[in-house]
Amino acid sequence: AVPESCARAVGVVMSVFVTRRIPAEGLRVLSQASGCRVQQWDSEEPVPRAELLAGVAGSRGLLCLLSDRIDREVLDAAGPGLKVISTLSVGFDHLALDEIKKRGIRVGYTPDVLTDATAELSVALLLSVCRRLPEAAEQVKSGGWTTWKPLWMCGYGLSDSTVGIIGLGRIGQAVARRLKPFGVRKFLYTGSGPKPESAAEFGAEFVPLTRLAEESDFVVVTCALTPATQGMCNKDFFGRMKKTSVFVNTSRGAVVNQEDLYNALAHGQIAAAGLDVTTPEPLPTDHPLLSLKNCVILPHIGSATYATRSTMAVLAANNLLAGLRGEPMPHELKL
Ligand code: NDP
Ligand code: DGY
Repeated sequence: AVPESCARAVGVVMSVFVTRRIPAEGLRVLSQASGCRVQQWDSEEPVPRAELLAGVAGSRGLLCLLSDRIDREVLDAAGPGLKVISTLSVGFDHLALDEIKKRGIRVGYTPDVLTDATAELSVALLLSVCRRLPEAAEQVKSGGWTTWKPLWMCGYGLSDSTVGIIGLGRIGQAVARRLKPFGVRKFLYTGSGPKPESAAEFGAEFVPLTRLAEESDFVVVTCALTPATQGMCNKDFFGRMKKTSVFVNTSRGAVVNQEDLYNALAHGQIAAAGLDVTTPEPLPTDHPLLSLKNCVILPHIGSATYATRSTMAVLAANNLLAGLRGEPMPHELKL
């Protein structure tokens, strides 16, 4: 069972399990809801699997994170009383949706509220990579900065460039909106089909993945992780990219074949890469990608502003409560 120090109890009717310490504003929504008994894994670190299985047992609601794999084993441990799963994320690749649907469980998630923060981080990462900011800052500290040199620390700029967006969804569009004023000449995008209404704002052209790889100076991955997108950025993809192109992924690590990315970066097949997401997370500190100067890796911080995380937590709590009460959720995933 969840240790007493990690548990929080208020009221007695509907019990919910929260798998991590979350922003206080979100927990308050649950704690103040009448008839809601909250049990929480009150830690910054992920709930151990055994504690998750024990904690969810008998719960009607589960508030989980993208790092919790919610599969048949968890659902079985929860038992038939589990009615709602609310994830503190817009991504839902960690949820076994077929199994969840079969059991009639409703799912809440957090779209929209993190779009701006994630797009902002995507642009920050892209600029850091193409203008080599971490590498240049390191030179200042290490004494590598000896004088102003015409050929030193040059990178690639966005002016007059072609940007390819893989997945022109909420975040993909918000990235394009932010990049356009930098003087991007042309936007390309891929997805399951053309989206003329979304693309019109940027004059973006729908193209096959291969053409996007071949023509883009910057590739930004903002799609969902699905069976179709898993491993999509592979040897063939990187092989088609220009030697001068920059690759950025802020979606999910598994969209990229990391061994193929390593080879492309190490052999100068592409210029540089920026990743906010990896496989696994955290990436082991001795991972080959971390040895490359032309690869910047961040610890999955796309939505990490104080305001966004607080809003996500409140939304996740309200999704959970609405589901428990049989009401429409602020954001329900259609299964
Ligand atoms: P959306 O659902 O709005 O967008 C997802 C996009 O993925 C859609 O445009 C969809 O295109 C596209 N897509 C689906 N299948 C394919 C495919 N085969 N090829 C190319 N594109 C495809 O979601 P959001 O923009 O809100 O979020 C996107 C993802 O970003 C999340 O699923 C999550 O994994 C990740 N994320 C990461 C964060 C971070 O911290 N780094 C923060 C927030 C989100 P179509 O409609 O044509 O199918
Ligand atoms: C998500 O919401 O899917 C992100 O990865 C974290 O905010």
